[in-house]
Amino acid sequence: MAEHREKILVVEDEQHMREILNMLLETEGYQIQTAKDGSHGVELLEKEIFNLVITDIKMPGVDGFGILEKALQTSPETVVIMMTAFGTMESALEAMKLGAYDYIHKPFKIDEIRLIVKKALEKQKMQRQLSLLRQRTALEPDGNIVARSPRMKEILARLPRVAESRANVLITGESGTGKDLIANAIHALSPRKEADFVAINCANLPEGLLESELFGYMKGAFTGAAQNKQGYFEVADKGTLFLDEVAEMSVQLQSKLLRVIETGTFRRLGSTTDITVDVRILSATNKDLREAALNGSFREDLFYRLNAIPVHLPPLRERKEDIPALIEHFLKKRNKDKRLDKKALEMLMNHAWRGNIRELENVVERILLFSDGQLIRAEDIPAEITGECPGGNATASLGEGFELEPLLEKIEKDYLLKALAQAGGKKIEAAKLLGLSFRSFRHRLAKYDIK
Ligand SMILES: Nc1ncnc2c1ncn2[C@@H]1O[C@H](COP(=O)(O)OP(=O)(O)O)[C@@H](O)[C@H]1O
Ligand SMILES: [Mg+2]
Repeated sequence: MAEHREKILVVEDEQHMREILNMLLETEGYQIQTAKDGSHGVELLEKEIFNLVITDIKMPGVDGFGILEKALQTSPETVVIMMTAFGTMESALEAMKLGAYDYIHKPFKIDEIRLIVKKALEKQKMQRQLSLLRQRTALEPDGNIVARSPRMKEILARLPRVAESRANVLITGESGTGKDLIANAIHALSPRKEADFVAINCANLPEGLLESELFGYMKGAFTGAAQNKQGYFEVADKGTLFLDEVAEMSVQLQSKLLRVIETGTFRRLGSTTDITVDVRILSATNKDLREAALNGSFREDLFYRLNAIPVHLPPLRERKEDIPALIEHFLKKRNKDKRLDKKALEMLMNHAWRGNIRELENVVERILLFSDGQLIRAEDIPAEITGECPGGNATASLGEGFELEPLLEKIEKDYLLKALAQAGGKKIEAAKLLGLSFRSFRHRLAKYDIK
């Protein structure tokens, strides 16, 4: 109980008044410290964080304004109440403008001060809860980021501070580990959240197009430039630019990017006017960019600029504790009230997940497409997970009970399901995916009783 008591500092140069306040507030259950003048008050404010400060306005040396300033500077959450005597009313109003919470006239009634303190502390508590709540919802941009493993928890715990900084962030990790998701979350948590989050994939566009998308162009800058166009750097001004698969950027474009980072300015293609922007850059890669910088395929100076804050997402196989929660998350996302039996879960836990969370989500999707009932069993798990797939790590040894036929059937059935899932249930497309005629495909579906 004792450690939950709120801390109050009373700054008052009149001894009698100081003692009254001390006694009164102590009987209310607060933890009180008193300062006999302004400079003593400042000293205490430097040592400790108080929930609330009650200060006289008129004091020799450091006055109530000095205390207010110090309190707000060392701890913005601290509530400050000013005490006014005859003739200092104006000052009290002035103090309110500067950030004091309220003021009280001397002499005051005991109930009056009791109530004002209680209300102030309640309001402070509510505000703290509200800001915690805001932080939490910001962490969940679309549903949420599942994190049960110590490594993911640590990353999430760091995220608000990463977001607050304006330094560039390089997010690394294998494909499907959640780099996009984290980039989005960093922006959503950042002071830039009201401005745009602009994402561009450096691997999807040919060099020239990537350049004109990033920097924009003037009408006639090149064939096909029919009008002036803003680049992503302009659109992302005051916001965040996300360069996905940044390792794929050409060396020439790397130099241009470095220049923007160093000078904060760039030109549209075909323009001679410098444009100044304030853009924070998040980038992502599944390559070892440090290695690329060392062997010369990526500019080393750019690497350091982009990598001011590194965030590494471990592969799913190194954080298996996340798997059950992720499965649950994906089931819930699809409004499925299903769960896995022990064997099925074990299989999914032991898979290597080369495609990481993206692969896991796809597998969950496929399981759902074809499992009836509420319980998902081992038989519902696709063969590539169970290891009975050609090219996979098939473990069946020949001899002793080995049968080729059921194995082939299982593989065939599985590929039919896989194709159907990938084609979103469209049979003609699924047949194409397998290189089968529609007739033959339909025949096989019937053979395995797949609807
Ligand atoms: N920790 C996580 N919690 C919930 N969903 C996740 C998590 N990490 C990744 N995902 C989901 O997995 C998929 C792949 O993530 P993505 O961010 O696109 O990976 P990457 O950019 O690293 O290839 C996305 O649908 C994403 O929402
Ligand atoms: Mg991605």
